Amino acid sequence: MTVAVVGSINQDLVVRVPRHPVPGETILGIDHFTVSGGKGANQAVAAARLGCDVTMIGRVGDDDAGRSMVAGLRAEGIDTRHVSVDADAGSGLAVITLDDAGENAIVVSPGANARLPVNAITAAAPVLAAARVALFQLEVPLPAVVAAIAEVGGVVILNPAPAQPLPTSMLARVGILVPNRTELGVLAGTDEPETLDAVEDALAALGFAGRVVVTLGADGAVIAEGGVLTHVPAPTIDPVDTTAAGDAFCGGLADAISRDAPLVEAVRWAVHAGALAATKIGAQPSLPTRDAVLSLMRG
Ligand code: RIB
Repeated sequence: MTVAVVGSINQDLVVRVPRHPVPGETILGIDHFTVSGGKGANQAVAAARLGCDVTMIGRVGDDDAGRSMVAGLRAEGIDTRHVSVDADAGSGLAVITLDDAGENAIVVSPGANARLPVNAITAAAPVLAAARVALFQLEVPLPAVVAAIAEVGGVVILNPAPAQPLPTSMLARVGILVPNRTELGVLAGTDEPETLDAVEDALAALGFAGRVVVTLGADGAVIAEGGVLTHVPAPTIDPVDTTAAGDAFCGGLADAISRDAPLVEAVRWAVHAGALAATKIGAQPSLPTRDAVLSLMRG
């Protein structure tokens, strides 16, 4: 049940809006609040709330936001000894607009996340070697991600967000790739796949030999393994904020895989964790506990 997460730690500034602005437009929001976020930190908290022993590897600025976010991770029982403090950059900030339908738009100013050095990975190598599962996203520098993946002894799960072209040598070490539709389209060089048939075509274009789990929001997820596609539906919920639903999914997947669950069962668990995260506002405040996921699965 040990999980290592290499990734971003952001403060989220959320502005609730009646609708998202278009370029060049100013609109009036409804209200705003700040919460802890960042894809890496969210996934770490998600796995911890599901019962995993989690170590976070990342970087914050020497500021109040950084201190508060690290304290928040510690309060979740997460080992933060490999979260370094950058004296020359502020902590990461995400500006999020959230509309009435629960849809968001996010701009990340990476700050210290963009300065996670490869030597921080070297220092954390024993943790990466020992973890049953190591979770990655792409909000920290690619050289750090590549170096870290090379140290992993267990299963590598890569959530390629935000999407960018990736070295083939790095992908070869990924055990489970977890893109959403947009990220799958970018990685495969296709349009964003809207239908299950289009997802199948994009997966064929991607040509990734390992296991792929495509997250589909309210439509659940599709597993591609050994040329076979399996659709895992999502439970019906009333979404209020989809921020971090994908992170809850990845944390849930890491949790189940670290307990040796078969992939279909792990994805079913992850889909329920992701669905629950969409029923609450804010990134880390929305991440569910193990009991909450069990209760949703029982129906
Ligand atoms: O996945 C949601 C997260 O993306 C937010 O918490 C924000 O910080 C960005 O990293």
